[in-house]
Amino acid sequence: MGDYEVFKSKIFQMTKIDLSCYKERQMKRRIDALIVKAGIATYDEYVAALKKDPALLEEFVTYLTINVSEFYRNPDQWKVLENEILPYLFERFGNDIRIWSAACSTGDEPYTLVMLLAKFIPLNRIHILATDLDKQVLEKAQIGLYDEKSLKGLPKEFIKKHFTQVGGESYQIHDEIKKCVEFKQHNLLKDSYPSGCDMIVCRNVMIYFTEDAKKSIYHKFNQALNEDGMLFVGSTEQIISAEDYGFTAYRSFFYKKD
Ligand SMILES: C[S@@+](CC[C@H](N)C(=O)[O-])C[C@H]1O[C@@H](n2cnc3c(N)ncnc32)[C@H](O)[C@@H]1O
Repeated sequence: MGDYEVFKSKIFQMTKIDLSCYKERQMKRRIDALIVKAGIATYDEYVAALKKDPALLEEFVTYLTINVSEFYRNPDQWKVLENEILPYLFERFGNDIRIWSAACSTGDEPYTLVMLLAKFIPLNRIHILATDLDKQVLEKAQIGLYDEKSLKGLPKEFIKKHFTQVGGESYQIHDEIKKCVEFKQHNLLKDSYPSGCDMIVCRNVMIYFTEDAKKSIYHKFNQALNEDGMLFVGSTEQIISAEDYGFTAYRSFFYKKD
């Protein structure tokens, strides 16, 4: 296949994605399988093909980034959010809370947040920043058309209230929900972070990063949060020694900035 180190640096030049920050064994296995599937024998040939064909490059980025998402993923955690964390945040920060959904993929997560927030405050008070590295998923998020699979965990009342079924098996999310979310491209490994957040939701992406990359991201999340702000992580992403990054474990999967 060739030299993976050289491949990584060429991919960085082309995409600004630093593959050294992703767990190597898993990432290399995925990339090697993709290259073999494309009928290509070496990294050099693959890079040449990516340079010639922008569509292939976009496809490669989307493949790399693993975009699986769904509405209300891990329902128990969303229940804790609704019953304990949101009331805490409203009490501490008032009604205009600032939320950042980082690595939001196709929008399922920030839109779930809007639906839960709408149980407490009017839609015109809700503003969520949602970011991801992958432009393709952000485009999909902005369109807001989902299949049944993405919605399978979402309580029926939300589907009825916030979606219109179109063409049999697709569901269009309503504009009033879309308007509450601002989507932007953002690379957690490279770009500067927003500030003044009351809650950051970042789930199911840290698992792909190396320990060093994770440490740096936790520090930056801490700086991005207001004091007493909350970080909500994925179900296999509990933070070991959260206090090293200025957090206190508040509930499982929720960490409060000290
Ligand atoms: C498995 S999805 C998780 C989506 C959603 N948070 C959830 O839990 O359902 C991982 C997302 O992380 C994004 N991602 C990967 N590397 C990233 C990076 N360096 N910066 C920002 N987003 C990244 C991918 O594009 C993908 O959409």
